[in-house]
Amino acid sequence: MKKLLINNIGMLASPCGKEARRGKAQGEIRILRKAWLLIEGGHIAALGEGEPPAADAVILDAGGKLVTPGLVDAHTHLIFGGWRQNELGLKLHGVTYLEILAQGGGILSTVKATREATEDELFAKAWDALDEMLDLGVTTAEAKSGYGLDLETELKQLRVIRRLHEEHPVDLAATFLGAHALPPEYKEDREAYLRLLCERVIPRVAEEKLAEFCDVFCETGVFSAEESHRILEAGKRFGLIPKIHADEIDPIGGSQLTEAVGAISAEHLIVCPPEGIAAMAKAGTVACCLPATSFYLGSTFAPVRDMIAAGVPVALASDFNPGSCPSLNLQFVMNLGCLRYKMTPEEVLTGVTLNAAAAIARAENIGSLEERKLADLVIWDAPDLDYICYRMGSNLAETVIKKGMIKKGYLHGILD
Ligand code: NIG
Ligand code: FE
Repeated sequence: MKKLLINNIGMLASPCGKEARRGKAQGEIRILRKAWLLIEGGHIAALGEGEPPAADAVILDAGGKLVTPGLVDAHTHLIFGGWRQNELGLKLHGVTYLEILAQGGGILSTVKATREATEDELFAKAWDALDEMLDLGVTTAEAKSGYGLDLETELKQLRVIRRLHEEHPVDLAATFLGAHALPPEYKEDREAYLRLLCERVIPRVAEEKLAEFCDVFCETGVFSAEESHRILEAGKRFGLIPKIHADEIDPIGGSQLTEAVGAISAEHLIVCPPEGIAAMAKAGTVACCLPATSFYLGSTFAPVRDMIAAGVPVALASDFNPGSCPSLNLQFVMNLGCLRYKMTPEEVLTGVTLNAAAAIARAENIGSLEERKLADLVIWDAPDLDYICYRMGSNLAETVIKKGMIKKGYLHGILD
């Protein structure tokens, strides 16, 4: 495979290392000016400032612009049937998210549409969403099941994720979220659903190697902290790494569970109490915060400054789903990270690259621009890092490179 030299980079901005960065270190990134970066065999071979080395390579002139690692979206509900635009009117009339769910709408209406969709229909729909993500600068994403809530449909969603990972340029990490809601057919028998998950579905997911992570929606009216604990422990017995949707609407103990189960990440954390922050700091859990969901729900924003002060590594992700966040735009998430979480652009960059990679156990290979990591990167239509956090509503990702191949922009496909 031919080498690729990216030359004339105005600013190269990247966190460093192979693990999540916490506290003050979250905001300490490496900045190179007048830089170059050499790619070989899909990996970063070398990078530096000043004159590039003489190399037999295709040359891509970055035009003095900003280069960062490819964005990593560590939390999406990518695979679903239908949409839920009908809920907008209800929201505007003051019906809350949990009220819609309790009436059999919300997640449960997406479950119906997802059960009815064929595997190919789900694949085609998610493919388009992944194309849009790539166009916005995302090179790796996490994707959850959780709109099946029965053995067959959960497996169907996870198989779609596997196929997409194999065929689409964006790499995917799969999470099993069978505990996303109580399915209607188990309304009168919660215990039977919990047993189905722990004794039949989780073992099958593990047997077919369809997921790396197990997540639960720990929330009022959904799954209690005790039930969440039980499901995550069952997942662990089958090698699934725990994640947890915690403190999105009510603080019912989800974030405190992170320490007990050794969760790799906790998600949302909008109303995370101090004890939850302390538990995450102790467990080394990545706080995966989803500001576009707060924005869309009209709720408050997660106490990210307190998390950073307490030494909790923070990742930012989209939460793309048809209910609480019908947006997959990680650039908008970056804007909100600054404006609503009061993070610095440097902290935000770490949040959507290295810390996001750590939230899905990928920090060894992606999330920063360093020798031997995968050559996943974005050339931005921007002179510096501040600019991409400050401009809103435009897509500033100009060239997107995945494993050394140009997937968007000038010279697109030249190396494929
Ligand atoms: O992360 N909170 C639970 N799950 C999603 C929403 C799913 C839906 O409404 O369809 C979330 O916000
Ligand atoms: Fe979510």
